[in-house]
Amino acid sequence: MADTKVTVRDNGPLLVTGFGVVEDAEGNAFATGGKETIALCRCGASKNRPFCDGAHRECNFDAVDRATDE
Ligand code: FES
Repeated sequence: MADTKVTVRDNGPLLVTGFGVVEDAEGNAFATGGKETIALCRCGASKNRPFCDGAHRECNFDAVDRATDE
């Protein structure tokens, strides 16, 4: 299996590459259409959660997070 990479986008979703499966709390898999990279909503405004549908652009989601050594 490929390494998993999560990229925190400025004012946007979490891009996940190299994932295995995305499940709900009951263990049911969401359809990901065979994509290698998915975008997970972190603004809460998507109508297609847990996936990003671009709604973060309309809700003024403001999150610019940078990694630190701490
Ligand atoms: S992060 Fe894109 S819709 Fe929420």
